[in-house]
Amino acid sequence: MFYQPALRDHGLPHDPFKALVVPRPIGWISSIDTDGRPNLAPYSFYNAIAYDPPVVVFGSTLRPRQNLRKDSHANIEATGEFVVNLATEALREEMNASAASLPPGGDEFAHAELATLPSRMVRAPRVAASPAALECRYLRTVELPCDAPGRTNYAVFGQVIGIHIDDSLIVDGRVDILRCRPLARLGYMDYTVVDNVFAMDRPG
Ligand SMILES: Cc1cc2nc3c(=O)[nH]c(=O)nc-3n(C[C@H](O)[C@H](O)[C@H](O)COP(=O)(O)O)c2cc1C
Repeated sequence: MFYQPALRDHGLPHDPFKALVVPRPIGWISSIDTDGRPNLAPYSFYNAIAYDPPVVVFGSTLRPRQNLRKDSHANIEATGEFVVNLATEALREEMNASAASLPPGGDEFAHAELATLPSRMVRAPRVAASPAALECRYLRTVELPCDAPGRTNYAVFGQVIGIHIDDSLIVDGRVDILRCRPLARLGYMDYTVVDNVFAMDRPG
């Protein structure tokens, strides 16, 4: 089959695009608002896009049926910082609960019954139960087209300035990612976990 996203001519019950760009890591993003109130939400349009220095990006839509930025996006632009917590299989229910659409200032940490830990370089707290966290300084936002009239999508970039790794993940000097089984998004309402690893040498 072939279809053009602009024409929505896939003939399927659901647009298959997101089922093809997989697995997508889940950026579990904590931030604070200008009053210091914490916020937490998952974003699966998320990835690392540079290494030296490390840079991450996530894609944010506007709030459904409102012409307002989502809280994570608004907080990050207002405070200039955020944290990306690693979402794991063990934390999947809490991750999902933290996607609840609370009013601005609503605390998804409390809503998902998650404890916080302070960060080192930024004021936004991190998820205590998450085995890794990237403390980020906001870089910039890029506006993206949106098919819905009058609406905009956004890509929010941050430079990673501090990295927490639970010592239990370090085995023989390397991160043993199978020890924490990161969660990732597939299409539809599907998820997967990183549960196997293989290595290949690059050609010289
Ligand atoms: C697994 C998962 C992935 C999500 N990915 C995104 C995403 O990439 N972009 C987005 O705008 N919303 C995404 N959402 C929805 C947001 O998490 C949701 O709108 C949330 O309420 C936003 O919270 P905030 O306003 O506190 O930032 C995702 C939800 C889930 C459960």
